[in-house]
Amino acid sequence: MSAEPIVASLLPDTAEITSNDVIVGGVSLRGLAGSYGTPLFVYDEETLRARCREAAGAFDDGVAFASKSFLCGAMARLAFEEGLCIDVATGGELDLVLRSGVPAGRIIMHGNNKSADELERAIAVGVHRLVVDNFEEIALLSTLVNHSSPLDCLVRVTPGVEAHTHEFVRTGQEDTKFGFSVATGDARQAIHELRAIPGLTLRGVHAHIGSQVFELIGFVESLTILAKFIAEDGFDELCVGGGLGVAYVAGESAPSIHEWGDAIRVAALEVGLDSNVRLLAEPGRAIVAQAAVTLYEVGAVKPVAQRTYMAVDGGMSDNPRPVLYGSGYEAFDVGDALAPRPQNVRLVGKHCESGDVLIDEAWLPASTGVRSIIATPVTGAYGYSMASNYNRVPRPAVLFVRDGVTREVLRRETFDDMARLEV
Ligand code: LLP
Repeated sequence: MSAEPIVASLLPDTAEITSNDVIVGGVSLRGLAGSYGTPLFVYDEETLRARCREAAGAFDDGVAFASKSFLCGAMARLAFEEGLCIDVATGGELDLVLRSGVPAGRIIMHGNNKSADELERAIAVGVHRLVVDNFEEIALLSTLVNHSSPLDCLVRVTPGVEAHTHEFVRTGQEDTKFGFSVATGDARQAIHELRAIPGLTLRGVHAHIGSQVFELIGFVESLTILAKFIAEDGFDELCVGGGLGVAYVAGESAPSIHEWGDAIRVAALEVGLDSNVRLLAEPGRAIVAQAAVTLYEVGAVKPVAQRTYMAVDGGMSDNPRPVLYGSGYEAFDVGDALAPRPQNVRLVGKHCESGDVLIDEAWLPASTGVRSIIATPVTGAYGYSMASNYNRVPRPAVLFVRDGVTREVLRRETFDDMARLEV
């Protein structure tokens, strides 16, 4: 790591760094911290929209935003407005997306253990596609689907591809809870069974090899395996799932969504896929991660013999990724973002455990200390969506900023909100 100032490429597209503030979407981050309090998620709407449009252009119609990465009504509507379908993985995600006003015909339903209730609702509202994961689900579908309650499906297969990423978010290999194995013949058997269900139309094949993947080769290998089913079964849709990685720290670089789409198209041509086959994907992280920063206030600075601990007013409840996956992040001082960052601290949260570390070795300006507003960039994906109330810490508010205007899309949770489940 370095004492250099934060690199602009980690910030939202519209970010402008001045000597005493950072402006995103035409709005002052210092001002937002003052008016809305901290911790606070600030999303640049322009970045969100640009990434959605990029995805809509890179793949065919039906490409979806993976809502597990960040979901609220405003986000679902934004992705829909920009031409994307919305991928949901549970009844809860399905419910929120329907409440947001996105039509069911633009929703793709996933899940490796869908309940009968979840399946019934997906069929009743008429989702665009349901991605079938296992034989128990096929048995349930055969009792729920018929000519008066029809359903369009994809079958999720396990291509046997090892994505180069953290083992917790790797899904394409044989040893996985997701999908039907190609190698064992289960995928072939599933296709056979699904085709025998009246009212069910099997449109194509789906695979998801993992998340935070930097190497496009894994997607190409997966496509090659999926393409065999297309050729043999005459399907007209192929989805390579989500998983495109993003840079979290200086020095990392990831392919763009556009490059990802190009690689898929080239691979499809090379394996001789019919040009009528719809090439689809469902990115989450690549759409939302870089669009947001999280703002925190520093509350305590504690030098010990080995290092200095700097504590902020959030932590593993608003960003569990460092604890779960050892993910790296950077930090900058919103009031001093052009300054070199020679001060090395362990950035920690306010939770009651030593593991509550946001950044093991954070670099900040020498002047950063108690009451400074600091930001961690690239926190738009799997932060708010995996946020918890651990230690009864309320979830932060979420703002969308654009052209100088701030929209509060999720208000800060209150103690009353947290107490509402008491009976
Ligand atoms: N499609 C399927 C079937 C998935 O399982 C996932 C992510 C996606 C699409 C979207 O993947 P993305 O483009 O966002 O990588 N909590 C972890 C990531 C878990 C991803 C789970 N599935 C993290 O914070 O890194």
